[in-house]
Amino acid sequence: MQRNTFDVINGGLFEEPVHGSCIEHVLTGKKRKTFEGDTETIATCPNLVFSSPQPHTFRPMKKIPSATVQRLKKLARAAAKKSHSPYSGFPVGAAILAGSGKTYTGANVENASYGLCNCAERTAIFTAVAGGEREVRCVVVYTPTKTASSPCGACRQVINEFGPQARVISICDSDDLLDTTLDILLPRAFGPKNLG
Ligand code: THU
Repeated sequence: MQRNTFDVINGGLFEEPVHGSCIEHVLTGKKRKTFEGDTETIATCPNLVFSSPQPHTFRPMKKIPSATVQRLKKLARAAAKKSHSPYSGFPVGAAILAGSGKTYTGANVENASYGLCNCAERTAIFTAVAGGEREVRCVVVYTPTKTASSPCGACRQVINEFGPQARVISICDSDDLLDTTLDILLPRAFGPKNLG
């Protein structure tokens, strides 16, 4: 596996295999490569918050064909139409690519007891797991907003259980897009391995 060591702006040194996303941004300071190979400008890079040495060992991600990503985006948008969100008025849809290659969808399901609301991402993942899946390769989430928003903390933790390397894509009602990976969104995650 190809590895690079980066001197991160605020001091730390860390090692990661070159597998896309923010790594390119660290190298150029301004641009990053998307997984389709396009270059886009991003304002901030989550990697830059690292301030201590963080040696990572990652498995290389399997590339997800762009036709599959396009299909997941359509499914996530459509899934939002099934949302039960009378309290927030914020219908969210998610679509995931599971280890078997099958796709699963979900929407947010709210409850009059507000704390029991379930996000679209978790609905999709729980549906996949209940269908026998144990690996999440990609999560696409659609929010009815002008800017793309990434999954909440609880969903990041649930994604980590089944896809610590999963690609996470957020889409919305404009062309704004986030395209990253779970290990970027949830560095140093607590997961099954931490239970010893
Ligand atoms: N929500 C999601 O379904 N996914 C997200 O990524 C963010 C928030 C839902 C939860 C709640 O039903 C509504 O959006 C407002 O927070």
